[in-house]
Amino acid sequence: MFRRKSIISVLAASMLLSSGVVYAQANGAQNAQSDTAFDNKVIKKISSENMYNTIKYLSAVPREAGTEGEVRGVEYIESQFKSLGLETKRIPFPIYDYKTNHEAAKINDTEIAAHAFSGSYSGTITAELFDAGKALPGTVSDEVKGKIALVERGENTFVDKIQNVLDKGAVGVLMYNSTGTSNVFGQAAEGQNIPAVGITRAQGLDLVKKLNNGEKVSATLDVDIQKIEKTSYVVEAKLKPKKNKDTGQIVTIGSHHDSVPNGPGANDDASGVSAVLELARIFVNTPIDTEVRFLTFGSEERGMVGSSFYVSQLPQSDIDRMVAHFQMDMIGGAKAGEDHPLGGLIMYTIDGKKNLVTDLGASSTSRLYDVAIPYGQLGRSDHQPFHDVGIPSALFIHSPVEPQYHKPTDTIEHISKEKLQQAASIVGASAYQIVRPDTPALDRAHVAPATVDYDFENRPVD
Ligand code: BES
Ligand code: ZN
Repeated sequence: MFRRKSIISVLAASMLLSSGVVYAQANGAQNAQSDTAFDNKVIKKISSENMYNTIKYLSAVPREAGTEGEVRGVEYIESQFKSLGLETKRIPFPIYDYKTNHEAAKINDTEIAAHAFSGSYSGTITAELFDAGKALPGTVSDEVKGKIALVERGENTFVDKIQNVLDKGAVGVLMYNSTGTSNVFGQAAEGQNIPAVGITRAQGLDLVKKLNNGEKVSATLDVDIQKIEKTSYVVEAKLKPKKNKDTGQIVTIGSHHDSVPNGPGANDDASGVSAVLELARIFVNTPIDTEVRFLTFGSEERGMVGSSFYVSQLPQSDIDRMVAHFQMDMIGGAKAGEDHPLGGLIMYTIDGKKNLVTDLGASSTSRLYDVAIPYGQLGRSDHQPFHDVGIPSALFIHSPVEPQYHKPTDTIEHISKEKLQQAASIVGASAYQIVRPDTPALDRAHVAPATVDYDFENRPVD
C-alpha cells in the first residue's frame, strides 16, 4: 500500500539548495500541513465550470491543424491569455499537405502497380535495383550508390529507412510491405530528396528472388506530388516573477489545441487547454519566483509538430532554465480510466523513469487525494520534444482512454467536471511547489534520485 510519509520526506530531500543543503528538515507531518496550505492557494480557486466553458467553446468547431477551426481556437486562447495581462505570442510554423498527381513504377520497362509515399520527393528516375534488406542502421552497403534501393517494411520507421539508403547514395526507394496485399503505406520526411514508392509484399519478394538469382533488374520510379503549405500555431504566454524575486528558472505547462480532422476534440485536447487557461488565471494573481510559460500547441495530431517547432526555436539559454514540463492531454474523459483509482489518471514519461515532474505529481496527489498515482512509459504527446532536450517532463492523462477517442463523438457530453478539477489541481499544486517564492530554487543538477513510493504501471492505453 501507499506510504504517505515516505513520499513527503523524500520529496523534501529532493528540494535542495544549489549548495546541496536540504532546505526542509521538519518532520513529514509538519511538511504535509504547510504544503497543504500552499496547495489551497491554488486548488481552492480552480473552477471546473470555467474549464467546462472553455471546452464547450473550443469543441463547437473542429480544430484540425492548418484550418480556420484552428485559427478560431487560437484566437480564443490568445484573447484569454491577453485578458490576464500575460505576455502572449502566437508563433506560426509551416505544415504540409500532399496531393498525389501521378505515381508509377516500372520493372524492366513493364509498368507495375505502385503507390507513392506521402510526402515523397517528386521526380522520375531509372536505375538498377539493389536489395537493401530492411535498411536498418549500419546494414546498408555502399553498393546502393546510384541505385534504387529495394527495401522491406518493418522494424524501423519509413523515414529512417529512406535516410539510411539516402546516406549511402541511393537515388530512389522501392519498398515492399511486411504483410498482406496492400501497397498503401509509407511517408517521407522534408528534405529526403529521392522518390519513395510502395509495392505489395508479393511484388517485393518476387524482385528479391530475381536479384538473389543474380539477375540485373532495372527500375523506374515516377512521382509527381504537389506540396501544399499551410500554417499552424503555438500559443505562448509568459508569466514572469518580479525582477528582485526571480530564480531564473522556467516551468512550462502545456496542452495541444488542435484536434483530429472533423473531430470536436472536447477531451483531446480542449480539456488540456482548459486547464492551461485556468491555471494561468490563477497563477497571475499568485506571487511566484519562477517564470511560468503557458503553452498550447498546434499540429500535435500530426506528430507533435508544434511542440517540436517550439522547442527547436528556443534559445539554448531558455532550455537550460527550463526545469519541468507538465503536459495535460485528455484530462476530462468521463468514460476513461475504467475502474482505476483517480479515474485512471497516470503520469507518462518518455523513458519510463521517474523525474522531478512525476515526483511532484505523486506528492501532490498523495496530499490532495491520499492516493498513489502511478507512472508509466508513453510518448504520443507534446512532452516528447521537451524530454528530448533534457527537460524533466510528464504527460498527465486518464488511461485507458475513453471509447470516444479520435471520434466525432469526442464531445462536451462526455466530459467530467470532477476529472477536470482533479487533474488541474494535481498539476497546479505540483507546479506551485516549484514556483512559489518561499521554496528555494530547484536546481536540476541537485535533485536527489527519486525513490518516492509510487509505482510503475504497464497499463494498456487504447
Ligand atoms: N491524446 C493523444 C495521445 C494519446 C492517446 C495518449 C491515447 C495515450 C492514449 C494524442 O493527441 C494523439 O492522438 N497522439 C497521436 C500521436 C501521433 C500523431 C504521433 C497518437 O497517439 O496517435
Ligand atoms: Zn491529444
